[in-house]
Amino acid sequence: MAKSPAANSGGSNEYVTLTDHSTGKSHDFPLMPGSTGPKVINIGKLYGQTGHFTYDPGFTCTGACESKLTYIDGEAGILMHKGYMIEDLAEHSDYMELCYMLLNDDLPNKAEKAEFVKIITEHSMIHEQLKTFYDGFRRGAHPMAIMCGVVGALSAFYPDSIDILDPVQRKITAHRLVAKMPTIGAMAYKYSIGQPFIYPRNDLTYAENFLHMMFAVPAAEYPVNPVVAKAMDRIFLLHADHEQNASTSTVRLAGSTGANPFASVAAGIAALWGPAHGGANEAVINMLAEIGTPDRIPEYVDKAKDPEDEFRLFGFGHRVYKNYDPRAKVLQESCHEVLNALGIEHEPLLDIAVQLEEMALKDEYFIEKKLFPNVDFYSGIILKAIGMPTTMFTVLFAIARTIGWIAQWKEMIEDPTQKLGRPRQLYTGATERSVVALHKR
Ligand code: SDX
Repeated sequence: MAKSPAANSGGSNEYVTLTDHSTGKSHDFPLMPGSTGPKVINIGKLYGQTGHFTYDPGFTCTGACESKLTYIDGEAGILMHKGYMIEDLAEHSDYMELCYMLLNDDLPNKAEKAEFVKIITEHSMIHEQLKTFYDGFRRGAHPMAIMCGVVGALSAFYPDSIDILDPVQRKITAHRLVAKMPTIGAMAYKYSIGQPFIYPRNDLTYAENFLHMMFAVPAAEYPVNPVVAKAMDRIFLLHADHEQNASTSTVRLAGSTGANPFASVAAGIAALWGPAHGGANEAVINMLAEIGTPDRIPEYVDKAKDPEDEFRLFGFGHRVYKNYDPRAKVLQESCHEVLNALGIEHEPLLDIAVQLEEMALKDEYFIEKKLFPNVDFYSGIILKAIGMPTTMFTVLFAIARTIGWIAQWKEMIEDPTQKLGRPRQLYTGATERSVVALHKR
């Protein structure tokens, strides 16, 4: 890499030179180093200097922003939040501590954690009128449809915290969203089964509260199983944030227009719903159930490899991880812990998942394409074991990811270089032509 006095970005004067053979001209573009991971080529002036755009459908190697929240090394299978490896956080921290850190500088001390948990706990109720929104849905509506609608409506109930330029309001909104998502999600489930809504309780932890709102009924006490609560908290922690994934990028793009944070997060919920993204956990369980018995695994592996067949193995492959998703490893271990702790001696779907993984990881197709289990492959088995209905799996992902969405949104709003997101394109349509009068067409 040459060094040029011209290049000056991100504390480095390294640059790359692009030679445009259509004009014979060469152009220098600054190379920006991060604190770790690949450097980025700053192409902000590319069009001005060359008259060309870049072309990268799916943004496979395009950096959309600078961030200090989460780092992924796809080749090494590394995920860390502000320098802490996800395995370390899963073992020694919890979801509330991670939420605090993603909104602040570091993990909280005891006093900071206690204050943060108190704030979140005391924001967990929703406006009573929001309950009427649920009545507008068919009982059989997918809970994610309800989440999109209700979360999108929150800005109508909290006009006091949508001024995105006010740091106090940004913080209140972040607290409100983290606190209210479990309540909204549990209500979506209760509505779908015709049971009364259960109010949050301030004497329960975040995960306990969610489980209580999901499974308690007014007619009886519902003691939350601590094993289930611990597994729930770990699942929330593992899904909290994941760099610039599709739903987070959607939140950033929506937020870059100045749309309020509730509306931006609702856009993220909609993006997460797709089976290629957050909808995969629900699709994995349905796939494992469809496979049904281990002897049918080869048939499905062959279908996944068949270029003529649309079928893909849900829970396998990832845009960034070309190694094992570290979250999948933690979840696989948690699977066995939770099943043992709940006394579930035999879970047929886990048997199929383990054998499917073994077969796929030995298969040349999966090896060559670097397809490994991702976060969704085992999460559904734990969720099923703790009694979660399959239709709620992606809702759980949305609840957990809300902290990532709002932390990334807040980081973008507070980034002095932030601007309206507006990608360009390669136009291959008709060139200029005149309209022919209707009677002559
Ligand atoms: C999440 O981005 C994130 O960080 C997301 C996430 C997060 O925390 O936010 O990690 C959460 O979304 C996890 C991913 C959940 N999705 C699934 O499990 C659905 C199944 N996976 C695939 O749809 C796929 O792997 C994607 C969409 C996840 C990634 O696909 P890419 O990066 O667009 O890569 P690709 O589709 O071009 O695949 C590369 C090749 C292709 O073959 P060729 O065209 O080169 O011949 O691998 C094949 C694909 O056909 N392939 C698969 C496969 N995944 C990719 N073949 C069979 N089964 C699969 N699962």
